Parts: sequence; structure tokens; C-alpha cells
Amino acid sequence: MNRRALLTSLALAPVIAGCRRAAVAGPQPARLPPLKTITPGAFGTCVQLANLTDPGWLDLARTHVSQLTPEWEMKMEYILADGPDRLRLDRSDRIARFAADNGMALHGHTLIWYAQGQDVFSGLDNAAFDRAFDGYIATVAGRYRGKVRSWDVVNEPILDDGSGLRDCHWSRRYGQDGYIRRAFDQARIADPDAVLFLNEYNLEGVPAKGTQFLRLVERLLKSGCPLQGLGTQSHLWIDIPDGQIAAFMHELAQFGLPIHVSELDVSLRTDSPLDLRGLQERLSRQTARVAELAAAYMRLPAAQRFGFTTWGLRDTDSWYRRGDKDDGKDRPLPFDATGRPNPMAGALAAAFQR
Ligand code: G3I
Repeated sequence: MNRRALLTSLALAPVIAGCRRAAVAGPQPARLPPLKTITPGAFGTCVQLANLTDPGWLDLARTHVSQLTPEWEMKMEYILADGPDRLRLDRSDRIARFAADNGMALHGHTLIWYAQGQDVFSGLDNAAFDRAFDGYIATVAGRYRGKVRSWDVVNEPILDDGSGLRDCHWSRRYGQDGYIRRAFDQARIADPDAVLFLNEYNLEGVPAKGTQFLRLVERLLKSGCPLQGLGTQSHLWIDIPDGQIAAFMHELAQFGLPIHVSELDVSLRTDSPLDLRGLQERLSRQTARVAELAAAYMRLPAAQRFGFTTWGLRDTDSWYRRGDKDDGKDRPLPFDATGRPNPMAGALAAAFQR
């Protein structure tokens, strides 16, 4: 363990003990307070158009939520589905209007992502590629200027093992740091008021990926990139070692930038078919992870507590409960299918009210 890690772990030891106590206690307040009233920065969730006609979702969102992140309909996969000359902005417009009508902030997600856009951009010559790249950001970020609080300008630039940055259609044109820098520069021009985020997953659970992300942030800031916020998605798993989540948040805070826990969920499932642990033991591990993350968020200076977003409200809203991934039993979110609080909701409330 290197010196920095040792110092960090010594500093966090009492914190970890507290989180363990909170988790074992299984904090289930008699009545859950509205999470948006106790979460510094904002309490958010992802949203898709179908949610806006779902009475159960609407009731939970209007009670607990003060910020929305479009789950997929503000991404290229939807906006460019009819090609580069016929942008589909109808659903993101509807979501933006719902947020405004319901006094919720809107977090734009996401402008540039390695996973999307290749079908439209590949095959363009350099001049056409540049026009399309800059034009897409100008059109989409420009359209929601004054409507979004913030943007995930670039999503998931780091390789899963943390060995470096991804190669993709964007990096092949502009270089690995280059496309990120260009995206932020164009977003800054399109919306001078939005807080511009870099967003990534598994930063807590894969230390090498977290380190690579911190190095990238340092390079971008030194280069003058208008990077203003750091998004840690926090798609956690129950067996992340104690203290690892808090240690990464401590490192992330060093830049002094607003931090968005941007996509929290904690699947109860693990990769091992031999994992015979029962539901209560899994829920206890889950709430311990959530308690550690929320306590670490609460230790941030107020100016750095941008918001805390779960990737869905009810277990059945989760991407984990769709298609062939769904085992019909996972409980990754704060509320169950009927809208009753899960232990995760109690762990969040306990941490935010400490
Ligand atoms: O709703 C339509 C349905 O009408 C249609 O029949 C079906 C088949 O085409 O598609 C459905 O939409 C799907 C949508 O999820 C809702 O389920 C889209 O195809 C599918 O691409 C979309 O996947 C989203 C995924 O990102 C890719 O955009 C997930 O909802 C969303 O949870 C996931 O979120 C990502 C974050 O953006 C980044 N971090 C990781 C996170 C989880 O993968």
C-alpha cells in the first residue's frame, strides 16, 4: 500500500466503522422524508418519456426528486435515429418541459459518448466530420441553453481495466484527449452557463480506472479545458471492499470541482454462481456501500456537492430489470416496484440527515 493510500485509509477508518454500524442497523425511518429536501445539491433520477405517463413514477418523482437526467432520449441513439439532417428532439423537449413545469433541474446526458454516433459519423471526410461534430453540440446544447443546469459533455472515456483511454470514432479524428477537449470547448460556446461534466463509471470499484480518470482530469484542467464538474456514475456492486468508495471520493474532491454522483444503483447480483448469500446479507452489503458513498458525499465541501442521482426510482425502473438481464428479483434502487422504500432509501436518508 503506497503512502497516499495508507494515509487515506487511516483517515477513513472511523468513517468505515460508522458506515458498517449504519448498514447493520438497516436504517428504516418510520417515515422517509422527501429525499430532495435532505440531499445537498439535488436528489436526482433518470427519466424516459414513458415515465411521464406512469402515475406511480410521477408520485415518487414529485415527492423525492429535484433533478432529472434523460436516460436515453437525449443521446445520439434517439436524436440521430433518422439521420444527421433530421434531428429528433421531440422527446428531450417533452422531458425538458416536464422538468420545468415541475420545478426540477435538468442534467443533460450525454453529448459525446464512444458508444454512439459511429453509424452517422463514420465515412465522413474530415471537414464534414468537423462540421457534424461541432454542429451537433451547437444544435443540441444550444437548444437547451437556459433549460439545463448542466451537461455530461463526454461520457465514459476510460477503458474498463483503467489501462488508458478508449479508442473510438471520436479519438480517431481528434486524438484521445483531443476529442474531449473539442467537445468541452464546443459545449462552452453553445451554453456558457451550464456546468460541464466529465462522467465515468466503476471509478470506485476499479482503482486503476479511478486513477486513470484522475490523471485525465488533471491533464484536461492543466490544458485549460472548460471542465467544471466530475460525474462518478456509481453503478456499485455489493462486494466493493470497505473504504474503497470513500477513498476514491476523497481523491476526486482534490480538484475542488462540483461532484455529481450521477447514476447510483447497486445490483444485488454477483458474478459467482456459487454465491449462496441470501437476500438480507446482500441487502446489508448493499446498504453498507450506499452508506459509505453518501457519507463520503456529505464530507465534501458544500460547493462540491452538486447532486446525488439514482439511475431509476423503483427496482422495476432499472436497466438491470430489462430484457435478458432481468432475473425478476434484483433490487438495485431506493424503492420497490410498488414505490415502498427499500433499505437503500433508509441508508440515504440516514446519511443525508447525519
Ligand atoms: O423504449 C424503447 C422500446 O420502445 C423499443 O421497442 C426498444 C427496442 O428498440 O428500445 C427501447 O428503448 C431502449 C431504452 O434503453 C429503454 O429501455 C433503447 O433501445 C436502449 O438503447 C436504451 O438503453 C439505455 C442505454 O444507456 C443506452 O443508451 C438504457 O436505458 C440506459 O439505462 C443506459 O444508461 C447508461 C448511461 O447512459 C451511461 N452509464 C451506463 C448506463 C447503463 O448502461
